[in-house]
Amino acid sequence: MSCIAVVGSINQDIVIRVPRIPRPGETVHHGRLARYAGGKGANQAVAAARAGATVSMLAAVGTDPDGDDLLRGLIAEGVDTTHVARVDSAATGTALIAVDDAGANSIAVAEGANFEIDPADITSAIAGIQPDAVIGQREVPDDVTNAAFGAAPPGLRVLNVSPVDEGVAIDFALVDIAVVNEIEAAQLTADSNADDPAALARALATRTHRGCVVTLGGQGLVAHVDGQTHVQPAFPTTVVDTTGAGDAFCGVFAAALAAGRPVETALRWGQAAGALAAATPGAQPSMPRRHDIRRLADSGT
Ligand code: RIB
Repeated sequence: MSCIAVVGSINQDIVIRVPRIPRPGETVHHGRLARYAGGKGANQAVAAARAGATVSMLAAVGTDPDGDDLLRGLIAEGVDTTHVARVDSAATGTALIAVDDAGANSIAVAEGANFEIDPADITSAIAGIQPDAVIGQREVPDDVTNAAFGAAPPGLRVLNVSPVDEGVAIDFALVDIAVVNEIEAAQLTADSNADDPAALARALATRTHRGCVVTLGGQGLVAHVDGQTHVQPAFPTTVVDTTGAGDAFCGVFAAALAAGRPVETALRWGQAAGALAAATPGAQPSMPRRHDIRRLADSGT
């Protein structure tokens, strides 16, 4: 079984399901409230663990009850939380999420403890774990992710470059494969090829060691990895809530590659995982199990 270190965020997601997402200044009534475990890092850790990998989470939460709950949840998933710091200086990360009837979302995040991670702790954790793969995102400071990727032994470093803002300080020379959606890809390439995902994937691949995957939601994906372009359609799905679907893709894609699967297979399993996650409410609870991923991926659809 491959060993994966996920450096990233742990959030409490507070979700209101509304008929439509409010515009600025607007109030939308008749919502339904739910709380789910979330955070891109923790979601990807659970996705990889449910897919069969041995996973360590490198992160920080507050000393509050949300931190207790979220850690209990990760432990119940078999994720090693030895390297999750408890900090007094900030509350556990929180995301306020509006999900509309079509399953689309709008998210506001208070990073809290996620921005209190000490890069030195991450470097020593990676040195101790010696993972086969490291996964990162952008809900913790980029210097934390750079420290993790810089300390990683030879293997696989997958960066989900999400969210993208003006302050991207990722050292792409330390990244093997970048995963982005189409909007993030266009932001990172200054819109130069905004309507051509294959060109976006090729352009971003030049910044990394092995390549780039551009996910296209219901349109599938385009990837350029190890000099080869892959185009895959999406699996048909009934979209209930897209929150965490990208995280399901990243966790399962990285777990499959770390286990030695070919890129084509890892992309297909990742896509199947994303489709299954989009059909289920919430972030972490929607991460699919290995047998469901395999059944959909092998279904020939
Ligand atoms: O990718 C989905 C995640 O983004 C949610 O779980 C939320 O916590 C936000 O960070």
